[in-house]
Amino acid sequence: MYEEKILVLDFGSQYTQLIARRVREQRVYSEIFPFNAPINKIREFRPKGIILSGGPSSVHDPEAPIPDKGIFDLGIPVLGICYGMQVMTFMLGGAVQRAVRREYGRAEIIVDDTEDIFKGINNGSVVWMSHADRIERRPEGFNLIAHTVNSPCAAMADRSRHFYALQFHPEVVHTERGTEILKNFLFNVCRCKPVWEMSSFIEWAVRDIKDKTGKGNVICALSGGVDSSVVAVLVHKAVGDRLTCIFVDNGLLRKGEREKVIETFEKNFRINLIVVDAEERFLSKLKGITNPEEKRKIIGNEFIAVFEEEAYRISDVEYLAQGTLYPDVIESVSFKGPSATIKSHHNVGGLPEIMKLKLIEPLRELFKDEVREAGKELGLPDEICWRQPFPGPGLAIRCLGEITERRLNILREADAIVLEEIKAAGLYRNIWQSFAVLIPLKTVGVMGDERTYDYTMAIRAVNSVDGMTADWVKLPHDLLGRISNRIINEVDGVNRVVYDISSKPPSTIEWE
Ligand code: XMP
Repeated sequence: MYEEKILVLDFGSQYTQLIARRVREQRVYSEIFPFNAPINKIREFRPKGIILSGGPSSVHDPEAPIPDKGIFDLGIPVLGICYGMQVMTFMLGGAVQRAVRREYGRAEIIVDDTEDIFKGINNGSVVWMSHADRIERRPEGFNLIAHTVNSPCAAMADRSRHFYALQFHPEVVHTERGTEILKNFLFNVCRCKPVWEMSSFIEWAVRDIKDKTGKGNVICALSGGVDSSVVAVLVHKAVGDRLTCIFVDNGLLRKGEREKVIETFEKNFRINLIVVDAEERFLSKLKGITNPEEKRKIIGNEFIAVFEEEAYRISDVEYLAQGTLYPDVIESVSFKGPSATIKSHHNVGGLPEIMKLKLIEPLRELFKDEVREAGKELGLPDEICWRQPFPGPGLAIRCLGEITERRLNILREADAIVLEEIKAAGLYRNIWQSFAVLIPLKTVGVMGDERTYDYTMAIRAVNSVDGMTADWVKLPHDLLGRISNRIINEVDGVNRVVYDISSKPPSTIEWE
């Protein structure tokens, strides 16, 4: 385990993961625990400092998230951000004033003390505020170290105990000198050393998987996406032949996907791989279903059924390795307030409980780009490391309305053209997702002298950091033109192509 670690306690802010990531960017390992993590777990983790994240609550709410008060007795530095500041104030005997109105957006900071956390930070530097309640009375031992026009107490510190608190968010890019403030906390206050890097993460993860699994057998659901691929290779590095990967061909995959998976994992990495031909099973269950949530549920359940059957054939399986990333965790099984479940994702579903398997999730703390870096370090081909995310329910949620083999084939061919052209234009890596969506609505067209009456294909391309919000991409018109021409000419059954220009929110990335 690393010695230089920071623990982030999560109070439900949308920025929590960003804090952990900013810390890792400074080459200090960090992990996120839920706000109510028991003190013995925290002690076991042995962090050199703790950061309390922001969050949507008010300490005056009866349900307000309150951490174990033992965190203030560990003798290590604590940094409270926004709600973290308020909860710190509340628990250490200060007073928090209920908000009359929210303060949101930019503010200029006036630094009253540049000794440690604000070392090198100039007056007038812009910070990003997003809070309701504010500090009315500082807890004993705390001094004011910065203020703004609207916030008399924008930052405070109790140097003797190494407790610091900020009313603004140093982790967001809108806070001009946020990185320096965090660096000051990490290096001047916590005295961390910048030693963390991807290769040490891999070494640590391999050791951790070895320790955790002992002599037990591990299975992994391989989808061919970057997350499960990295998990497979990482676990394989740790346990070798005790790992078996299961790849379910549900008939909802993109063109060439199955072949690529076999080539990479079986042929190159020599990983035990079971390829399950389950197209028929999935498509027959999906027959006549048009409701998106129903489709998702059917695919999720069927996936579990197929996977379970295959897994039971392998002897003495004890562990399931999954490529869950932190954003998946919050979108799907949020214990926090703000993120309601919009769509039921099936990749972090009920498998382990059903099969009584112990879960291994080595990527739980990582962001997508960190996973890609890990993949590269592990020797995975670029094509996999840079693969755009693809949803568990596959083409089913891009083939609107009823799923039939013919419609899937039309969509698959069109989708392959979109990807080919985006790659040829050198844009593939810079786009979060780009794909085709089949709209099962027929319109009239003319091909040669013939009247056609065929489907419409929508093209979707979005940019995003984590899939939670997204902007549509302004693809060059000539590229859109090429894609449209090729789809209409080459894909039988389509006579019209449209471009989706909606962002998330209020739309979502996938159409269903
Ligand atoms: P939405 O459509 O909710 O998608 O804006 C956000 C991101 O999640 C992906 N997605 C899924 N991924 N299983 C997955 O593994 C799913 O059931 C699922 N549904 C959506 C989507 O492709 C986008 O990146």
